[in-house]
Amino acid sequence: MQLARVDSLKPGQVLGRSLYNERREIELPVGSRLDRDMIDLLNRRRYTYVYVWETENGDFVTPQDLIGDSIRSANSKSFAQALEDLRSNEALSKFDPENIINELKQSMNLHNLLPYTRFEQAAGDILEQVLRRDVRLYSSLPVRNKATADIDHALDVAVLSVLLGRSLNLPEEQLKTIALAALLHDAGIWVLTAATQNGSEELSRDLIEEHPTLSMLLIRQARPDNRAEQTIVHQHHECLDGSGFPEGLSGDDTPLDHEADPARYAIYPLSMIVAITNKYDAFVSGRSGGKLHTPEQALAKLVKDSGVHWNTHVVRELVKIVQLYPMGAHINIKKCSNPQFMGCGGIVIANSPLDPKKPTVILTHDHRGGAIQPKRVVLAREEVVELELVL
Ligand SMILES: [Fe+2]
Ligand SMILES: [Fe+2]
Repeated sequence: MQLARVDSLKPGQVLGRSLYNERREIELPVGSRLDRDMIDLLNRRRYTYVYVWETENGDFVTPQDLIGDSIRSANSKSFAQALEDLRSNEALSKFDPENIINELKQSMNLHNLLPYTRFEQAAGDILEQVLRRDVRLYSSLPVRNKATADIDHALDVAVLSVLLGRSLNLPEEQLKTIALAALLHDAGIWVLTAATQNGSEELSRDLIEEHPTLSMLLIRQARPDNRAEQTIVHQHHECLDGSGFPEGLSGDDTPLDHEADPARYAIYPLSMIVAITNKYDAFVSGRSGGKLHTPEQALAKLVKDSGVHWNTHVVRELVKIVQLYPMGAHINIKKCSNPQFMGCGGIVIANSPLDPKKPTVILTHDHRGGAIQPKRVVLAREEVVELELVL
């Protein structure tokens, strides 16, 4: 990998590091093969240098596009607008956060707080991309900054929930329901934050525990008949042992069936899907207690609490689809049967579903941390491999 001046870039060169825009969205992912338009974009963005791969050796494999990134850029703008509209909503600013729930229950003065059709469109986009591109594995790390954390969280939970639901063989209709509910599961938080003087005050514990109810009421207001979405958002913090909130419901640790009527269950099985993906995302993004967890650490915590908090069958399926070393992630090789690779660092470019602990990587650094000629290494060919994910 080398640092190249943008004014000397040529079409065909390959980006060595992902580039982000001011909202921390990936603008061009690592592995992008530059064309004229991309080089023009880099000039307009006033980059001076970018990292590019040496490609003469011809063995570079372009990582496939991360589904999370393409969906994020397509939808984050309209989401940002929706949040901005909430912040400047005059009717909302007249209410104490404590009174918003009552107001919504009675449907008196607060109307059309969410641009619901926009979220329906986004849910449709996510489902369409997952199905059309036949994505089966979740190979993504959260890309967050403070300003866009809520949007990114909603999108990531939606993408992961759809992948998980698909892996559990749920029908397409239910996948759409899950996508929409996952996008809106924390809508109650958005409204409460907007109502507390543009988020300058910390929300009290009691108010936070009301946010699933508020999310449910927001959906009910827009679509009174969407019982499944309402139930999922209302129950996304419930746990099987009754320790969750807002209702403290208890549920059974049974395999999912395809029954569509939420009223048949104490805790609706589709709620458990979003509850678990929400928790996974909170772990890997540091949203839960501030500590960043690797995918491996996050999965270990969910497995530990499965059967107690979480549905065992759903967690087991999540373990199958979440990749321990997501594409684009930086890794160090701690142990390897080939001594030549010991201690080297690089970037993951492909995952092997059969051997998730042995991805294909491009080595960029030697064991002393010095830059080397990028080298593609298929770790699945090595007998012993132990990697460390660099967060
Ligand atoms: Fe939540
Ligand atoms: Fe959440």
